[in-house]
Amino acid sequence: MDKFVIEGGLPLHGMIATSGSKNSALPALAAALLTDEEVVLERIPRVRDIRTMQRLLVDIGSEITVDEADPERVVLNTKTIVSPEAPYELVKTMRASSLVLGPLVARAGRARVSLPGGCAIGARPINFHLAGLEHLGARIAQEHGYIEAVAPDGLKGAHVVFDRITVTGTEDILMAAVLAEGESVLENAAREPEVVDLAHLLRKMGAKIEGEGTSVIRVQGVSKLHGATHEIIADRIEAGTFVLAGAITRGELCVSRCVPEHLGALIVKLAEAGVTVTQVDDTTLRVERRIGALGPVDMTTEEYPGFATDLQAQYMALMTQADGISIVTETIFENRFMHAQELMRMGANIRLDGRQAIIAGRSRLTGAGVIASDLRASASLVLAALVAKGETVIDRVYHIDRGYEKIEAKLSGAGAKIRREE
Ligand code: EPU
Repeated sequence: MDKFVIEGGLPLHGMIATSGSKNSALPALAAALLTDEEVVLERIPRVRDIRTMQRLLVDIGSEITVDEADPERVVLNTKTIVSPEAPYELVKTMRASSLVLGPLVARAGRARVSLPGGCAIGARPINFHLAGLEHLGARIAQEHGYIEAVAPDGLKGAHVVFDRITVTGTEDILMAAVLAEGESVLENAAREPEVVDLAHLLRKMGAKIEGEGTSVIRVQGVSKLHGATHEIIADRIEAGTFVLAGAITRGELCVSRCVPEHLGALIVKLAEAGVTVTQVDDTTLRVERRIGALGPVDMTTEEYPGFATDLQAQYMALMTQADGISIVTETIFENRFMHAQELMRMGANIRLDGRQAIIAGRSRLTGAGVIASDLRASASLVLAALVAKGETVIDRVYHIDRGYEKIEAKLSGAGAKIRREE
């Protein structure tokens, strides 16, 4: 298992480029199952979750070619659905595998997808995906840990009201609704940029969709979708992680190839804390924290456009360096504070109380051996290590490899001392 060895204390400077969004690329890859024509996806990040999704699609029947000249360009062709199934072996390593459920039922009339089981950050059931499919006319049964969804006569458009906002749930049902007969209305839909990006791809494939980016999405079903070429949006969570890395190290860092408006909630919090984030051009942010103390600023995670839960752990690392007490409230997942214990091993002063973390700064962090527990928790440990005195060894970095492309190379390029050890 790989480890990261990080020597802290160096401010980041220069420029780091953002990769394509993992959480946009995953549903986009699943969407390729909706057509027997060629779908070309550009700016696919080279991270482990994407490789897992590609393996799943190949098992299902897709032919996938990665462009040799441009490995971020992936060509998918699913002439026939050979096996409409997502096995436990894959689903247990990546919950987003359930994104094939909607496309498979819509295209093949049948899907068999393993139930994901528990997860490091919360229970994360997929009941809203299933309820949505039932509304669209699928029959759902559960046996041997698998969900079996069938719609032999095709799906029928329907009114789906999500009990709670769900990102992949919205994506899954949207992908089912585009091939359902008649009109579907998805209410209390997720407004995340990744949902909008998926709607853009589906529209290029011939789907009729209105309202993406709002909480009501209307779909007029069509009988067939065709091929398309689409470039995935920038990864706002990766970009936000680098902005926070610049802030925590008191650096002066530019984060390029991002979409600044996707990071609005983070930029507001950082401004309150005394960190300057300026927009250099349409796709570049510059973060600077050279002088002055860092202010403690409370933060509550929310659905987009609120503060992303996927940046909560990294923000908590920053708040360990603020002068005073801040409260971080996690409202999306019930168990997403695993990083707090590890930050405490590095010297942070954090008290957990249910969904709140009370962080008393400013702590002098020192390097220690720590364990990555999930993707974003790992990123927060990397940030803490970048300011800690001495050497930090982060174990189980396969978690970070799920969603960050060559993070050690990107951070080294900006002046960090970080290396990977096998
Ligand atoms: N929920 C249910 N039932 C459902 C679906 C969701 O109870 O059927 C609950 C979840 O347990 C959670 C809340 O609703 O408490 C919101 O979950 P959501 O469905 O929105 O999360 P997700 O779609 O499974 C995506 C991202 C996550 C990100 C969340 C929240 C992808 C592939 N994953 O997950 O990303 O944290 O939205 O924004 O898009 C990550 O990249 O590290 C990551 C975990």
